[in-house]
Amino acid sequence: MRRAKITIIGAGNVGATCAHWCAAGELGDVVLLDIPQTEDMPKGKALDLMQASPIMGFDSNLVGTADYDDTRGSDVVVVTAGIARKPGMSRDDLLSTNAKIVGSVSEQIKQSSPEAVVIVVSNPLDAMVQRALQVTGFPPNRVIGQAGVLDTARYRAFLAMELGVSVEDISALLMGGHGDTMVPMPSCTSVGGIPIAQLLDSARLDEIVERTRKGGAEIVSLLKTGSAYYAPAAATAQMVEAIVRDKKRLIPCAAYCDQEYGVGGYYVGVPVVLGSGGVERIVELQLTERETADFQKSVQAVKELVASMEQLVNG
Ligand code: NAI
Ligand code: 2OP
Repeated sequence: MRRAKITIIGAGNVGATCAHWCAAGELGDVVLLDIPQTEDMPKGKALDLMQASPIMGFDSNLVGTADYDDTRGSDVVVVTAGIARKPGMSRDDLLSTNAKIVGSVSEQIKQSSPEAVVIVVSNPLDAMVQRALQVTGFPPNRVIGQAGVLDTARYRAFLAMELGVSVEDISALLMGGHGDTMVPMPSCTSVGGIPIAQLLDSARLDEIVERTRKGGAEIVSLLKTGSAYYAPAAATAQMVEAIVRDKKRLIPCAAYCDQEYGVGGYYVGVPVVLGSGGVERIVELQLTERETADFQKSVQAVKELVASMEQLVNG
């Protein structure tokens, strides 16, 4: 059987860790690409991971490069290129630099892997994925952003820690943008099938939601030199797996919503069915009044972010 070809652009913390999860999970062969100025760094990381394979027992080829020729015909391209947050920086502070980087990377993807499903990770996520869509011109179902799997995982981890139960038993959903306005969905949160409201009072749940919203900043303040990468990379690898194995996972992703939820042509976090075609379906939920208001607020924040990006890009 032909192995999937997975290209990861940006061989920094998220990119290299994502390469690790993808290779260890035998999701396909992995090409790790970075800029020529980083010299042989992606080659070194790919070779190091390749040398881990006999020990860990995985059959995936890894190649490090700065040349898009090596990425030709990729099935999935993950974009982690850009700068990351440092203490005191918000995701939006990255806007100007990363819009240029994601624009140039998207131009290359368009030429080298015109049939790929693209997963954007670079921040500020909701604007960067819109930029990738604009520049590649790919159908929107093949340009997707990673945020919801990570944000939901943080929420699930905090709930498991609070309740002293396995993370495996926490089922939850967060929607909206990847920022402080992300929208938790208590009506979609359960533990071993038990609605969360029966296990946790609403004041404590609100505190956990707030910690989730600030989950990225909490890691930045602890690491001091950059932002989270283990969980973001694991979240991205889960999306890669859903695509290369055509798993039809129902997970939250930043998907292009036009009529859906009345968004009008922006990327926001919504539950989707993810398979070999990328976003195969956006699942529209009945939201409560409060959830609708919170979701609208989040969509408005995304619209403002995209407007700022377009002003920077178009001058
Ligand atoms: P990092 O600084 O460790 O790695 C970024 C890499 O991108 C560097 O190796 C750099 O040389 C490379 N790069 C820069 N311009 C490039 C170009 N034009 N082509 C190819 N490679 C290029 O940063 P890290 O921690 O890996 O984060 C990467 C991005 O992902 C950041 O923007 C960060 O904010 C974002 N992020 C997003 C998350 C999400 O949930 N959506 C979660 C975590 C990080
Ligand atoms: C995070 O949520 C920085 O967006 C990144 O960790």
